[in-house]
Amino acid sequence: MDENVRNPEMKRINTKELATSFIEEQVALLKKEIGNKKVLLALSGGVDSSVVAALLIKAIGKNLVCVHVNHGLLRKGESEQVIKVFKEELGANLIYVDAVDRFLDALEGVEDPETKRKIIGKIFIDVFAEEAKKLEGIEFLAQGTIYPDILESKGIKAHHNVGGLPKELNFKLVEPVKLLYKDEVRMVGETLGLPHNMVYRQPFPGPGLGVRCPGAITRERLEVVRESDAILREEFALAGLEGKVWQYFTVVPPFKSTGIKDNKRTYEYSVVLRAINSIDAVTASVEEIPYPLLFKIRDRILNEVKGVNRVLFDISPKPVATIEWE
Ligand code: XMP
Repeated sequence: MDENVRNPEMKRINTKELATSFIEEQVALLKKEIGNKKVLLALSGGVDSSVVAALLIKAIGKNLVCVHVNHGLLRKGESEQVIKVFKEELGANLIYVDAVDRFLDALEGVEDPETKRKIIGKIFIDVFAEEAKKLEGIEFLAQGTIYPDILESKGIKAHHNVGGLPKELNFKLVEPVKLLYKDEVRMVGETLGLPHNMVYRQPFPGPGLGVRCPGAITRERLEVVRESDAILREEFALAGLEGKVWQYFTVVPPFKSTGIKDNKRTYEYSVVLRAINSIDAVTASVEEIPYPLLFKIRDRILNEVKGVNRVLFDISPKPVATIEWE
């Protein structure tokens, strides 16, 4: 049987008991396959790579080497959470790479969305490959491939994410969740004890906040995106919408408009709120955020985020719009 095809008799992992047996089975298989060799994993903090990391830590402990690359386009608190959960709580062998300047310098002045994506993808691979070359004795590369990635190899992830590892990094692949659907990966992650907000988090694009800072990225505007996004996420969590709304984020377009504060005219950025529901990201509808919540988010952004004088709500469905702004 093709190892990339799910056995039709395999039960949907929808209880902790089923997840526990999956974990036990995989840990035994991974131990057998890997022995005392070393495995490398790019750990973004996303659901899939996090679950793979937790499984491998259980199976081979410090022989899993996780590399977390901070490209400067992550959300507020994201790198900190990866370090806290994996290094401090699970004792992972984690290498943190601060590549913020390298990414942001390379992106300076670049306006075209696809060129931005290519630069981010390429530097990511370069940074990861450089780290891999510094390490001795790595034989395997772990990846958070999941079943929909195999089924739709022309799907969203494959469509957006360019690149691949250079040929000289000739590792054997380890893909322990490649036959699982997303809800099953989440159940396994939760059973492994990963934090709820990590396991049930919304989709987040590889190029991160870079696509929410349309046009040429500036550090100033990126900070506005990051801070306003943190407020939106916090307020959605308080309102019980976390895990219920498919995807929500802020966008800060590359223009300023006039406002007034303390009797003085201002010339500052606008923050666009976006909250959508979808099943497969191919189509999306707009979440009807109640006005009191919208106003609360507006007030917090206008009061707490420097350089903003306007908050807008994007009511465009996909199609005609896309989910991200670029
Ligand atoms: P769009 O904007 O095309 O987005 O309607 C559909 C889904 O894909 C995510 N997205 C990306 N994911 N790399 C990714 O890994 C990307 O470059 C990228 N661009 C968009 C988007 O967040 C949405 O969930």
